Amino acid sequence: MIYSIDRPGETRQRPKFAPYKPGEPATTEQITMLPLIKFSDLDLLHPRIEHASRVLIETAEANMRGIPTGCVLAGPHGVGKTTLAMAAVWHAGARVPWLVDEEDGRLDWSLASPVAQYIKANELINKWLDPKNDYEIDWQERGIPFTVIDDVGLEQTIQFMKDPATELQRRYYQVLDYAAEGVGHGLIITTNRSIDPAANALRAMLGEANWSRILKLCPKGSLVDLNGLPDRRVASSGR
Ligand SMILES: Nc1ncnc2c1ncn2[C@@H]1O[C@H](COP(=O)(O)OP(=O)(O)O)[C@@H](O)[C@H]1O
Ligand SMILES: [Mg+2]
Repeated sequence: MIYSIDRPGETRQRPKFAPYKPGEPATTEQITMLPLIKFSDLDLLHPRIEHASRVLIETAEANMRGIPTGCVLAGPHGVGKTTLAMAAVWHAGARVPWLVDEEDGRLDWSLASPVAQYIKANELINKWLDPKNDYEIDWQERGIPFTVIDDVGLEQTIQFMKDPATELQRRYYQVLDYAAEGVGHGLIITTNRSIDPAANALRAMLGEANWSRILKLCPKGSLVDLNGLPDRRVASSGR
């Protein structure tokens, strides 16, 4: 059965959504059941949120044109990092099946699967990049336009390693070197760590080799600091 993609001229088979098994590297198809979020549905009134959305759209579109490009969204819990990053994923297009028995060309968005990739940092670091998996990063080769790595800084401590902090840097290096120096691949990174130049906790966590690769991948102005914005969860639950 042929499924459509919302980028012109492309069709693909429907991906299979195999259940994710811990300890096994997931394939893109296994992690693409993302909540459908579009920039047009979001509240972008705050100028810094609006700025973040513009950076994300520019990043997504540069990668869709084949130019590996990155950006970082930094800020505390609840400011909207995950929501904005998911909107960027959907912005790059999706495989969307036709509704069964539909003749008029309507699409079944409940089964849509974005072409860009979304992964939680903890899953990337502690599952995919666990050395026992021999996981090969081949995202660009597989036609994935870019990858969101959500919640860098919220990884659980790497188990069974003498020096988990250095091992964490080593695992991030595999991704960041591939993205910025190797094959080339766009990355959208969200983090709860500060990227304030005076106290750059993300840089301290990742180390200099990784930080220089982030700077190489991310154009000027694409390190976005959302610190100081209200926590939307508190506002919406009335606490
Ligand atoms: N721009 C936005 N417009 C509307 N709702 C938003 C927006 N950003 C975030 N939210 C809502 O606020 C809550 C927290 O957002 P989330 O993206 O999870 O924050 P973070 O990832 O920074 O912790 C979510 O329920 C989300 O739906
Ligand atoms: Mg989040």
